[in-house]
Amino acid sequence: MFFIYFASLIYLFAAQGEEESFEDDDFLMPPPDDEGSFAHPLHRTYLEDSYCMDGTKAAAYVFEGSTDDLIMYFYSGGICIEDSTKFLKYGDYIYIDNCTHRNTTFYGTSNGYPEEFNANQGLMGNNKYQNVHLRKAHKMFLMYCDGNMWYQQMNSQVFKGALSQMKLIPKRIILAGSGVGGWYLVNKYNELRAAIKEFYQEEVELRILLDSVIFDISRNQDIVDAYTEATKRAGITMNDIFSFDALLKVDIPTFIVHSQYDWWQLEISDGFECIGKIHLDKCTPKEKKQIEKIRLSILQQLKDLMKAKPDWGLWAISCVFNELVIWTESWNHPKFQIPMQKGGLLSDKFQDWLENRGETNVHYDIVPWPDNKPCSNIFHNGKTDPQLDEMIRNYEIKESRSKREEKYDL
Ligand SMILES: *[C@@H]1O[C@H](CO)[C@@H](O)[C@H](O)[C@H]1NC(C)=O
Ligand SMILES: *[C@@H]1O[C@H](CO)[C@@H](O)[C@H](O)[C@H]1NC(C)=O
Repeated sequence: MFFIYFASLIYLFAAQGEEESFEDDDFLMPPPDDEGSFAHPLHRTYLEDSYCMDGTKAAAYVFEGSTDDLIMYFYSGGICIEDSTKFLKYGDYIYIDNCTHRNTTFYGTSNGYPEEFNANQGLMGNNKYQNVHLRKAHKMFLMYCDGNMWYQQMNSQVFKGALSQMKLIPKRIILAGSGVGGWYLVNKYNELRAAIKEFYQEEVELRILLDSVIFDISRNQDIVDAYTEATKRAGITMNDIFSFDALLKVDIPTFIVHSQYDWWQLEISDGFECIGKIHLDKCTPKEKKQIEKIRLSILQQLKDLMKAKPDWGLWAISCVFNELVIWTESWNHPKFQIPMQKGGLLSDKFQDWLENRGETNVHYDIVPWPDNKPCSNIFHNGKTDPQLDEMIRNYEIKESRSKREEKYDL
């Protein structure tokens, strides 16, 4: 089953102690006799001189691996602004809330972060089933809690402190980030590179992995205004985020992971009510045409970027999704491949790029939705997979739970 598609980490955290734990799910349970199938939890640590919005210490989750690779992952979570009344109708999934409210949530305080995080997956997973190539890498999952696109809680000093908590001298560091976490890397890679050099006193091979960073928000003035407010507060400009100009400046080999039908882009930013998070089934031919235009325009820019950056890589799938690297089902699952079912797993393609092998490191679906059939979950006769209904049902349950929690301030 597939139902964590839309669950953000907040639900995974919340689900940890509950009876309906995700671990009961067949999908997440590796076959029992699979070598290295035991998933180890990540351990909470606090970062020196780094604070969340409410003044609590910023935190990270650590996995002590056994190879020379270190993955530092910057989580996503949008922004906070002064007045979010325009966005309340979208619920939590817009990831834009007011700072007073965010102060009290998972994205504003480390109060309530559990000591162990055992629902880590994908790139942050440490068994073969979740993360076949990088399962043994050392990992730090950095939690985002400043509402300020990382600009408040992170800097070179904090980053060096984070490195000092990792028990290895890495040969290679993968700086990974989703959403605003990715944009922080795009803007600060130079400082982070200098911090790494200073800390280890030697050259360490550096790679960047950006997940779900490409958005065109230009058609939604409210979202433009919100991000303008947040970028001003952070001391950067709008051209520093969501922009190909900013990406072009990066001089570290970078791998971009992108959903060609990112639901945040289509449903939230572009306002297509037909999206339903994981499919376009309810969209009219006219809506599908508009969506195609958006998809192809972003894809063209990605292709141009790849031409300008021969040592970069791309994996852009025609599935309705958002954030692909920290979920096993998109990182390392046969349903998510480019080209479909032909050995095009994200985890494999990323590894090929990392090891400088593979004929090409640029992978994108040329077919529109739903023609990458395994991930669109559509049978050939056009009927939906019963799994899809299950997913939607579970999504709705979770959404109503989050509303409930909000209401009672749990
Ligand atoms: C702040 O967010 C809370 C919770 O989403 C909402 O109830 C409140 O109306 C918001 N206030 C402003 C000024 O945006
Ligand atoms: C967040 O909470 C802290 C501590 O309770 C408080 O000092 C601060 O003013 C709050 N910030 C906002 C934006 O509400």
